[in-house]
Amino acid sequence: MTDESAFVYRFEPGSKAGAPPFLLLHGTGGDENDLLQLGAMISPGSALLSPRGRVLEHGMPRFFRRLAEGVFDEEDVRERALELGAFVDSARQRHGIEAPIAVGFSNGANIAAALLLMQPDALAGAVLFRAMVPLSAPPRARLDGKPVLILSGQADPIVPAANAARLSALLSDAGASVVHKILPAGHQLSQTDVALARDWIGSVSARVGGRLVASD
Ligand code: MLT
Repeated sequence: MTDESAFVYRFEPGSKAGAPPFLLLHGTGGDENDLLQLGAMISPGSALLSPRGRVLEHGMPRFFRRLAEGVFDEEDVRERALELGAFVDSARQRHGIEAPIAVGFSNGANIAAALLLMQPDALAGAVLFRAMVPLSAPPRARLDGKPVLILSGQADPIVPAANAARLSALLSDAGASVVHKILPAGHQLSQTDVALARDWIGSVSARVGGRLVASD
């Protein structure tokens, strides 16, 4: 499918009442098909909304431009986050879904973090695999208890541990309910990532006022 903001995307309708919809955001060089299986493993029956990043880096789709590895074009990050937020809003109306939980890997996790900071209402929460701080001077967001799971790799050559820790602190300071775990892994996902994400999704399933909240 292509939406009017020109995102190519896949949409899989939900098949289980109460399963939260997901916004799936792939890594550099991925596409709208990449994370469908991961989404189904983490939460069987969830609606899956999966856009393809609109920036091309040597032919590889991404969600925003970068100047070098780990050095982001922050003006572009801001613009692209808002563009993605507008896509989510229109896709929600078109497909009749609630605000989704973003499930992002690498570049997709970074744009998800930017979207949380730029337009908090677009998302009900986020699972961020191998994420970094997307903006050096983010707007003051009010995340009001939104649940966020950050899974980092101890031996990740792309995401320095201090950067992931800063992201966790940034989102917590903005009021998100953050769980940050550091796994014995590199940049790639492991079975432990999948298992932890599945358990976490199960633990945030209580709904209050139309959004997800962390349950004890
Ligand atoms: C990014 O550019 O978003 C990060 O460096 C992750 C990556 O895509 O390699």
